[in-house]
Formats: sequence, C-alpha cells, structure tokens
Amino acid sequence: MKLKRGVALAAVVGLTMTLGACGGDSDSGSGGSGGGDEAPQGSIGVILPDTESSVRWESADRPALEAAFDEAGVDYDIQNAEGSADRMATIADSMISGGATVLAIVNLDSDSGAAIQERAASQGVQTIDYDRLTLGGSAGYYVSFDNTVVGELQGQGLADCLGDEDANLVYLNGSPTDNNATLFSEGAHSVLDEVSGYENVGEQAVPDWDPDEAVTIFDQLYTQAGGEVDGVYAANDGLAGAAISILERNGRNGEVPVTGQDATVEGLQAILAGDQCMTVYKSAKQEAAALADTAIALVNGEEPETTGETEDVDGDRQVPSVLLEPESITADNLDVVFDDGGQTVEDVCTGRYEAMCEDAGIS
Ligand code: BGC
Repeated sequence: MKLKRGVALAAVVGLTMTLGACGGDSDSGSGGSGGGDEAPQGSIGVILPDTESSVRWESADRPALEAAFDEAGVDYDIQNAEGSADRMATIADSMISGGATVLAIVNLDSDSGAAIQERAASQGVQTIDYDRLTLGGSAGYYVSFDNTVVGELQGQGLADCLGDEDANLVYLNGSPTDNNATLFSEGAHSVLDEVSGYENVGEQAVPDWDPDEAVTIFDQLYTQAGGEVDGVYAANDGLAGAAISILERNGRNGEVPVTGQDATVEGLQAILAGDQCMTVYKSAKQEAAALADTAIALVNGEEPETTGETEDVDGDRQVPSVLLEPESITADNLDVVFDDGGQTVEDVCTGRYEAMCEDAGIS
C-alpha cells in the first residue's frame, strides 16, 4: 500500500512536469527565432554514445532527433561515438571547428564528458547533457526523463509481478560510469527494500551496459545463489535479455519475473512471450523534441524553457533541466508504445510473436 502511494505521488509530480515540458515544446516550436522569421543561426551537434548498450540510440533517438531538427529547419549533425570516449572527443572537436554553436552529448562517463564540455566552453560553444547528466560537468542544460522515477517504476513493476510472497532478488545494474544507472538502481531499491519478504541475493553493475558481459555476470550471480532466484531487477531490456537467456538455459524463463527499460522490440517480444514482466517506455519523440527546443533556443540566444533543476552532486551545482515522465509497460498496456509510434506492430509481431500479438489483441 505504502509503496504504491509513493510511486503514485511520483507519477503525479512527473505528470505535472511532463505537462510543463509539453508547454515548453509548443511555445518554442511556434515561437521560432524570437525575433521574427529568421532561420536559427549556427548549428547543433549531437553525439550519441554507442550502439551496444541499447538499440535505442540509433533506432529511436537518431530518427526522432532528425525529425525534430528537420521540422525546425535548423542545421545539425548527429554522430555516434561507438563506445569510445576518445572518439567522442574527436567528434566534438570536429563539430566545433565545423561551426557548431551548441553541442549536446550523451556522455560515456562523467570525466570524459566534462572534458569535452570544458573544451567547448573555451571556444564559446554552449553544451547540453542529453539523457545522462555529466557529474562535475559544465553543461548549461540537462534534458532527460526523471530517472529516479524510472527506477521506482521498475521496482514497483517487479513487486507487482512477484506479489507479497517471500522472494530472492538479483540486481543487474547499468554501467557504473552512468549516473542514470545509479538513479535507476536507487529508485528500484527504494521500492523493493521496503518489502520485508524480499531478499537481495546478488547485485552487480554491468560495465558499459554490455549485454554480453551481463550474460556472464548473471550466470555467476545465479550460480552463487544456488539457483534460488525468484525475481530479477535488470536495468534495461538488453540486460533483461541477458538474464532471460540464462534463466532459459535453466528452464526457468517465464517463471522468474525480469524488469527492463527502453521498450525495445526485443523487450516487448519478451513481454509478449511472458519472459519479461515489464519495461519502461521513455518516448524518444518527447525527449528529442525537448532537446531540439532547448538547443534551438540556445542557438537563437534565447533562454530555454525548463521544468526544474537537477543536482550535480560532484559539481555541487544545480543544472536547469527538462525532465520528462517515463511510463511503465506490461502485457496489459503494450498499446501505449505502439500508439506513440515508439515501435511498430510490424516490427514486434513477427514470426512466432504474430500469434502472441493476436492473442493480446494487438494488430
Ligand atoms: C539510458 C537508457 C539506456 C542505457 C544504456 C541510460 O543512460 O537512460 O535508456 O538503456 O543508458 O544505453
């Protein structure tokens, strides 16, 4: 009872923030360059982190960002650092020398992100943290979802799937260098640690969110627990897939609920198959639009709209932020993702999933 109230309250707060953010979207979307009809001056560089930690960056974020920037008629360049902090720094330098006046990054770790932001600032380029906050960095703005709420939704989702019975839990956290992973885990623990019958029987962070490494890590945690695992907190769909593959090998998939995040094709299919109990949907459309609004305002010399501030604990500062509201997805509300265009029915309901979609009333 108590738990649900906590999460419900967070959801209401988040909803208010989302509405605030939407207002910001339409305001700056229609407000143009503030001084009339001139096109924005300067260009925007965006550097995505990799292609391995989640399919979201190339399959959801890139197209959503392209659509938002195209609609605004602004010059932009989106590149992917392919998991290399050195490459991200090189890309940043080339974007800046190529005329970018605003640079948004999804850092690979806070130190390398902060260094990029410092170099940018020294050349008069403004920076934005996209999705991940750079601790000790100097970005003027942060655009993301409420990541503590993401963790709370995951924790509550797992609790809902498990019920009140005693249960041994294993935690597969995201990368130790990603501030979001810390917030996700804290949010999940804030819910699950309150349930007296739940025991934490194994917990580890997965370097770089690497799903291959997660297979090995989960296998070890599962073995160490003597196979006595009743529920799995997996921080995103990639890690969930890793855990499910080991559960499957032990004939336990479908019986042990697993959480996730990103509403990927693989994650939604695992939910349809009953192997995954939930995922968290974070609309790329919303996040990209919020980034585009923020970046375009900066390019135009205007002050971007924000929904609040986020504390940078290392930098001892508050970063003006746009924080959006994530949504919990289970087998009962998969349509939320399809209706928002987060995935298409054609991509998810293929092969053996076609019949499962039909049974679930998805067409
Ligand atoms: C993002 C998640 C993503 C993970 C791995 C996090 O910072 O918020 O959506 O799954 O990184 O890329």
